[in-house]
Amino acid sequence: MKRILVLASGRGSNFRALLEASRHGVLRAEIAALGVSKRDCGAVGAAEAANLPLLLEPSEADILAFAKAQKIHFVVLAGYMKILSKHFIDALRDDKGLSQIINIHPSLLPAFPGLDAYGQAFRAGVREAGVTIHLVEPEVDGGPILDQKSFRIDRMRTVEEVESRGLPVEHDLYSKTIDWFVNGEYQLQNRGSPEGKVYVARA
Ligand code: GRF
Repeated sequence: MKRILVLASGRGSNFRALLEASRHGVLRAEIAALGVSKRDCGAVGAAEAANLPLLLEPSEADILAFAKAQKIHFVVLAGYMKILSKHFIDALRDDKGLSQIINIHPSLLPAFPGLDAYGQAFRAGVREAGVTIHLVEPEVDGGPILDQKSFRIDRMRTVEEVESRGLPVEHDLYSKTIDWFVNGEYQLQNRGSPEGKVYVARA
């Protein structure tokens, strides 16, 4: 089983969903540890209850050292509010150069990158919002997309409504996407773009 280190900063609902998915075999991988950028992060209690190793406010060097020592294969960001350096991202690539860091972003990228993406979509008055799972590259919210899922928001009246519709979509799509990606069930396609951009398609 592949070993995953999750990094989180906030409420921790995605972390808890990943733990559950791993317990139930929906996510065929081991959640091996949690790192948090803030000690009062909502994910900490769940990690303690599961007896998982915890990295409190780790530096990038701490994370890389831990990943090496503990044979971590993938790093999964679940609401991690820190920008990762190129050095860190480059240290976690496979032999084909593919990033081994996965992120979830609450919009249909490339629309609404950055903070408060549900709020951005709501205020823009778009018909659909959505969720994107992608690999992490130094360009923020810019790495290869693994999957996306959309949902209607045009009848919603508050950002809270958008978020409460979006979170269960996040939890479901994140677990399922990490499952096929970490188990190598994909093909790489290079559509011959000048930058040599890589596309990841589910096998
Ligand atoms: C989620 O909306 C996620 O997409 C975004 O930050 C939020 C984290 O929520 N990146 P939680 O901490 O997992 O509950």
